[in-house]
Amino acid sequence: MKILFVCLGNICRSPMAEAIFQHKIEKRGWRENIETDSAGTAGYHIGERPDRRTIQVLAANDIHTDHRSRQVAESDASIYDFIIAMDATNLEDLQQKLPNKTILLMRDYDSEDPGSAVPDPYYGDLSDFEAVYTILNRSIDTFIHQEIQPIVKHVNG
Ligand code: 4NP
Repeated sequence: MKILFVCLGNICRSPMAEAIFQHKIEKRGWRENIETDSAGTAGYHIGERPDRRTIQVLAANDIHTDHRSRQVAESDASIYDFIIAMDATNLEDLQQKLPNKTILLMRDYDSEDPGSAVPDPYYGDLSDFEAVYTILNRSIDTFIHQEIQPIVKHVNG
């Protein structure tokens, strides 16, 4: 199973989402079953490490990332089973770029404010990145419970 997290620049939200997701999957012992990546709809930061505030907030939660930013490619449509957008603009851009692919919205899995955006923290401060972490942590728990757990249980028997 392959899962791709997508935001605009691929240095703040989607690398954080991927790292949180990976951490949870490893804790469940499901690493063998699942591959992940993250990407940006824009190419402003290709090859760069995640924003230092993303790295800092992850590290505070004992999570590590060595991601390098990349842009979404048309080939991602056939590679990934789940593509998850962080906000409505990412979703629209993805639907244009990958027209025959179903794209999911991260906060459709957030019971506290379903359908809203994972807010872009780039021009904010550390507290905005901490807020993104809280939103992602909660949404990803529900995503795993609803979408991933049933498939892994089915495959592993
Ligand atoms: P992200 O945040 O989409 O969560 O990675 C942003 C990163 C960079 C820019 C905008 C948002 N930028 O304009 O360079």
